[in-house]
Amino acid sequence: MTRAIPALCAFLAAVPAAAVTNETHDMDRTSITEKPYGNVHDAAISLYTLKNASGMSVEVTNYGGIITSIVVPDKEGMMADVALGFDTLDGYLADQPYFGATIGRYGNRIGGGTFQLDGQTVELPKNNNGNTLHGGPRGFDKRVWQADVTDGALKLTYVSRDGEMGFPGTLTSEVTFRLRDDNAVEIEYRATTDKTTVVNLTNHSYFNLAGQGNGNVLGHLMQIDASAITPVDTRLIPTGELMPVEGTPFDFRKPVAIGNGIDADHDQIRRGRGYDHNFVLDGGGAGLRLIATVIEPSSGRILEVHTTEPGVQLYSGNFLDGSLRGKGGAVYGHRSGFCLETQHFPDSPNHESFPSTTLRPGETYTSRTVYKFRVQQ
Ligand code: GLA
Repeated sequence: MTRAIPALCAFLAAVPAAAVTNETHDMDRTSITEKPYGNVHDAAISLYTLKNASGMSVEVTNYGGIITSIVVPDKEGMMADVALGFDTLDGYLADQPYFGATIGRYGNRIGGGTFQLDGQTVELPKNNNGNTLHGGPRGFDKRVWQADVTDGALKLTYVSRDGEMGFPGTLTSEVTFRLRDDNAVEIEYRATTDKTTVVNLTNHSYFNLAGQGNGNVLGHLMQIDASAITPVDTRLIPTGELMPVEGTPFDFRKPVAIGNGIDADHDQIRRGRGYDHNFVLDGGGAGLRLIATVIEPSSGRILEVHTTEPGVQLYSGNFLDGSLRGKGGAVYGHRSGFCLETQHFPDSPNHESFPSTTLRPGETYTSRTVYKFRVQQ
């Protein structure tokens, strides 16, 4: 049942070399294989392995569009899986904190699970202290996606019907995963709707650059190009203001250990129990750009995050408490992984001053994020 698919399609082969862009020519040696991963109700689920010429591999399942592993070298060339998750599909089907998942229809929280759209009140099911988190109790992370392997990429498609999880409009979402030869994972999102709706898609990978299961991430050095965050109230809902990071534990404009300010005496830190905040990216909306760099000093692994989105949620795994056992029996203790969820701002449907998340019929939602791995020289 395993099939190897040569990534470079006939179409690209016919294009003169000079016309091939960086985006495509460095994926021409990526292979994608598929194997059975279990069943969800009647649907057979697959696990796809993307492997590039440098030996990096990424696994993605069409259940929840979940990235289940990311295997990358350290400065000595030793490979390790830097994504938290489970060995089998059962782990993902159980109650777990969105490990690796594709999040939709609306990433992060919508305050009180309600908002106004074109004069109508939209009511959503609430799944997080009276709010709607990550698209509701059965968001896109708990759906079976249709998978297609084309042009050296894995494309997942999910059609969310009108009214699903309370959202108006049938939304067709496509999430395309590519693995480049320069050890970059590209995720491209597209969505269209037949009625006006709101959309905010992201990926919820938890990273530990020392290798999953290898302690906490407090010693990782984090740099985020953001001069402000959207501060939250006690429900973790944005107040609508922007808070400058200058002089606060949220100033990551120069590399700082995640652990430095994570327990600081600061209201926002107390509310998030650490970092669980949306950073307002400098130059947000100006195309794909490098927005964050994370360095793990002992392994020398570096993660660069590039995105077209205006915000990123830094979540420092504050709700991990050692009760979950992951891959190879690893115990996921407090703050043993961090997420950088590229996104529009949480609760945007309730804040006119935030960049709009409204999608209307005839428009196409697009978003791109690249997680690129390299090592310290
Ligand atoms: C997001 C939220 C967090 C938490 C995690 C999952 O990052 O902002 O508060 O819910 O997802 O545990």
